[in-house]
Amino acid sequence: MTAALAVRGATKRFGAVLALDHVDLEVHPGEVLALLGDNGAGKSTLIKCISGVTRLDSGEIEIGGLPVTLSSPAVARAHGIETVYQDLALFDNLDPAANFYAGREHAGPAWLPRPLRVLRRQTMQHATTDVLDRLQVTLPDATANVGLMSGGQRQVIAVARAAAFASNVVILDEPTAALGVRESRRVLDLILRLRSEGHAVIVISHAMDHVTEVADRAMVMRRGRVVGEEIPSPESQGRIVALIVGSAYDADPPHQRTSPHGSNTV
Ligand SMILES: Nc1ncnc2c1ncn2[C@@H]1O[C@H](COP(=O)(O)OP(=O)(O)OP(=O)(O)O)[C@@H](O)[C@H]1O
Ligand SMILES: [Mg+2]
Repeated sequence: MTAALAVRGATKRFGAVLALDHVDLEVHPGEVLALLGDNGAGKSTLIKCISGVTRLDSGEIEIGGLPVTLSSPAVARAHGIETVYQDLALFDNLDPAANFYAGREHAGPAWLPRPLRVLRRQTMQHATTDVLDRLQVTLPDATANVGLMSGGQRQVIAVARAAAFASNVVILDEPTAALGVRESRRVLDLILRLRSEGHAVIVISHAMDHVTEVADRAMVMRRGRVVGEEIPSPESQGRIVALIVGSAYDADPPHQRTSPHGSNTV
């Protein structure tokens, strides 16, 4: 099966820091890939390159098997890649529908005659309700400004917005980091629904139990390199943690170092 997204040999340097060192990544339609690694491992840099925020120094990105140059976030979005950043970037003074379409051409310019604006507004409202229904997201009041909503509700809206526009890949940076148990549950359920709809999903997370629950595959980065891959399960958690902290890697003599696609021994 052709990967929804493939990254090959991604390399990015910030001054003396090699943030990405020949990183390869593939994610397929209907797959949830967890991107793990300690602070500074290069996770955010990698997703910023995939989201068109940062340019790679070298390496290739393919979408649906075709090479692309993701020169800006708008270009990445046009290729069906939607990213939810940790700070969400929702507009507190707008309702979910207005947030869904903020910055997108559907909203129409402000100078449109009022009847046309009302019409577009209704279309946006209906389309938003359709997406929320499809993803089985219930909000107490779907027309309230998102500033009045809880952290979990806001996160769900941001993920649903990404799902609504992503034809290829949804990228979530720490989607449950600030959430309680019940709110995390809603977001995890939503991730599982995205998967069942055939989206490719990349999730950055430090929450191992969440990773184990939703991810089909976990890829671990350390100091800009991919140091291993595991199928998340209660049994593999220890190996994954060892890869994250480096005890599976730094302790090995170089010739035994874990290959990105091989099995890992701790
Ligand atoms: N714009 C930048 N300018 C200079 N250095 C940067 C920049 N962005 C990232 N770095 C460096 O690149 C390395 C990787 O950072 P990155 O933010 O990708 O890590 P991360 O895996 O997302 O970590 P965390 O879990 O803390 O978010 C770090 O050493 C960081 O200091
Ligand atoms: Mg980060």
